[in-house]
Amino acid sequence: MFGAFLNKSQHPAEVSHELHSVGLSGGLAASGEGEMEEVEEEVIFAREFSMPSRHTFSMPPVERLLDKWLDGQEVIVDPFAGQSARGTITNDLSLNSPAQSHMLADGFVEQLDVIADAVLFDPPYSPRQISECYQQVGMPCGKESTQSAALYKRVKDGLHKILRPGGIAICCGWNSVGFGITRGYELLEVLLVTHGAAHNDTIVTVERKS
Ligand SMILES: C[S@@+](CC[C@H](N)C(=O)[O-])C[C@H]1O[C@@H](n2cnc3c(N)ncnc32)[C@H](O)[C@@H]1O
Repeated sequence: MFGAFLNKSQHPAEVSHELHSVGLSGGLAASGEGEMEEVEEEVIFAREFSMPSRHTFSMPPVERLLDKWLDGQEVIVDPFAGQSARGTITNDLSLNSPAQSHMLADGFVEQLDVIADAVLFDPPYSPRQISECYQQVGMPCGKESTQSAALYKRVKDGLHKILRPGGIAICCGWNSVGFGITRGYELLEVLLVTHGAAHNDTIVTVERKS
């Protein structure tokens, strides 16, 4: 059940921390009598302001979230790394990115032979952004290539295969779909990053693979 947001934001230029939690049926815990009982786990919800940036992971609220969840994770796969060095195994189609490889993200994930502790999913957010990236590297870009839903599914399926049980999946975009309960993921945190004016929020989800 959703609780009410505690709205502490006064001005968009101020960092707004709006935290609330959502009761979710969680796992089983031992009761005092030695029996197992269902416990409620809490999803962290937060809303913070940041100036918009194409380098998602450099926005301060996102940086803090990544610091928290990636601490101690050894193998971190990032197929759309952009300028970020958060991943230990990185890819980005653009040759302007310092990533270790420059493949299409779905092909990159498919050929990986690793077990990941965490996976990062920060793709282009719209068909237009996808086609701009193709054009930048001189690749032909038909209607099929710009279908973001199809690209997202292929890359998420690939990341799901290599993420270890208990591993962390962090997604950024314009929705909070994440990897989802159908793939067996438990939602841990949702961060809305508001940018002011008419910008779309950047929505970050953190999930754990069961
Ligand atoms: C939202 S940005 C990622 C930003 C990154 N997280 C950062 O903080 O710098 C999306 C990235 O995906 C790359 N990209 C776009 N289409 C791609 C594709 N099909 N395969 C791999 N990379 C792609 C773009 O070059 C861009 O750097």
